Amino acid sequence: MAIDTPDAPATDLHTPLDELTLDDLRRRTSVKWRAYEPDVLPLWVAEMDVTIAPAVQEAIGRALRDGDTGYDFGPAYAEALAAFAEQRWGWTLDVARTRAVADVMGGLTDVIKVLTGPGDAVVVSPPVYPPFYGFPGNEGRRIVEAPLAADGRIDPATLEAAFASATGAGVFGRGSGAGRRAVYLLCNPHNPTGVAHTPAELEGVLALAARYGVRVVSDEIHAPVGGHLGTDGPRYTPLLTVPGADDAFAVLSASKAWNLAGLRTAVVVGGPGAAADLARIPEEANHGVSHLAVIAHAAALRDGVGWLDSTLAGIARNKALFGDLVARHLPDARYAPAEATYLGWLDCRGMPDDVSRAPARFFHDRARVAVNEGAGFGTGGAGFVRVNLATSPAILTEAVERMAGALAR
Ligand SMILES: Cc1ncc(COP(=O)(O)O)c(C=O)c1O
Repeated sequence: MAIDTPDAPATDLHTPLDELTLDDLRRRTSVKWRAYEPDVLPLWVAEMDVTIAPAVQEAIGRALRDGDTGYDFGPAYAEALAAFAEQRWGWTLDVARTRAVADVMGGLTDVIKVLTGPGDAVVVSPPVYPPFYGFPGNEGRRIVEAPLAADGRIDPATLEAAFASATGAGVFGRGSGAGRRAVYLLCNPHNPTGVAHTPAELEGVLALAARYGVRVVSDEIHAPVGGHLGTDGPRYTPLLTVPGADDAFAVLSASKAWNLAGLRTAVVVGGPGAAADLARIPEEANHGVSHLAVIAHAAALRDGVGWLDSTLAGIARNKALFGDLVARHLPDARYAPAEATYLGWLDCRGMPDDVSRAPARFFHDRARVAVNEGAGFGTGGAGFVRVNLATSPAILTEAVERMAGALAR
């Protein structure tokens, strides 16, 4: 195995993505490192190959030393999120309109269950995070697709048609309350494409939703990996800061940006017009909140910003490196660095048929590299793979070289 030391070929940056060797990582017992055979390089599920922020390590260590491992109490998580949101995005978030929940998918599902009943529709924009189908579907919600346009942006005409179908409101039946209840489950920023929806796009979504009486529920788990005030280029816009978001919901968590999925918790935030619905989320939702997880997430948001910035620099470097590697080794594939997230959405449709038919399977079987099959992300995903770029440059380089080697054989 070529990878012993996490040397950084592209730059002399040293970030939390550059500290662990492959041997260190293979000692991990989480799904990323255990789901595949030991010779497979895992660049799939959204876990990061980072050392954990010192602020989080200290907070958890202190909690364990103090025996502070009881039930959670109070708004510590929401307060830390509000301070972070204000400073990072200029979003003044009202802690009184938040609920801590066990995780993002559970929180989104709780909100969907409050806003709709069995048989009602949940509109999703594929290609999108696969549980957007399964979780509402398992609750008896009907999934209506409003696929993204070829450039990965939300297409208003497609969305409008989906809203009309979801609510049963035809041309003559438009208007709030005209049709059945429905939710638009937005992914902001979008997984897997990494698109950061613009304020204008979000305002358009909210206007359409209002016209059809559709409620918008936004998964903002990737928000901290989406740029912030003071950074150039496209960046994450909190849905609830956009005009028209009065009755919308967002669910956020520190879990993706600080690699804390094993310390599960998240926060549901409602707009001013959603307070009554927020209150209808049943008490069971809070029951799964881990106090240790809240301590970890609050510490990350409060005292882990320097660590986050360093990790974001490593992610930006890795996106550039991945672009170079793809251009050099996989010339038939297409890759454009994502605006947000640490995910790469690699278009393999121009590769030979035996690859493009099921590229993730090909790369697993022939290159011993695990990436996510695009087809699993719904309409528009076939022929793509999702590559998790939150690893060391050495592992990323080795992965692409293995993929190229498999193609050459
Ligand atoms: C868009 C999106 N939502 C939700 C999740 C899962 O969040 P949780 O584990 O808190 O349910 C992920 C995980 O990668 C994700 O990418």
